[in-house]
Amino acid sequence: MTDRELVDRAREMQERAYVPYSNFRVGAALLCEDGTVVTGCNVENASYGLCICGERTAMVKAVSEGHRKFKAIAIAGDTDGPCVPCGACRQFIREFASSLDMPVYCVGKDNEHVSYTLDELLAHSFGPADLGK
Ligand code: THU
Repeated sequence: MTDRELVDRAREMQERAYVPYSNFRVGAALLCEDGTVVTGCNVENASYGLCICGERTAMVKAVSEGHRKFKAIAIAGDTDGPCVPCGACRQFIREFASSLDMPVYCVGKDNEHVSYTLDELLAHSFGPADLGK
């Protein structure tokens, strides 16, 4: 699975987004440690605060299927620059990242993806080891 292939899987998932309120479609594709790819999209709700991001949809799907270590994630949105994950999703990625160098591929409208490490997106982060886990 190349970074481009993962980005393409994220892009495809924008189609499934349920976004009647924001009309902002986000697709995500997660590469798990064993090579499995799990995808997700954002799912909104009339009670706005309950909206679930595309990244977290993918991660919760993965964990519920038994995948607890992630190697990479791709995020696609129709932003002018690269579509980067929100703060809550960064912390959620942190929980299951295989390392702080885990790549996060971000792609916007122009389809040119940028690769950030988790550590770049969430510096000095708090994680399971800080609780002795
Ligand atoms: N959204 C995501 O899916 N991922 C992010 O990292 C940022 C925001 C969604 C939430 C909401 O459905 C819409 O984008 C507008 O905020």
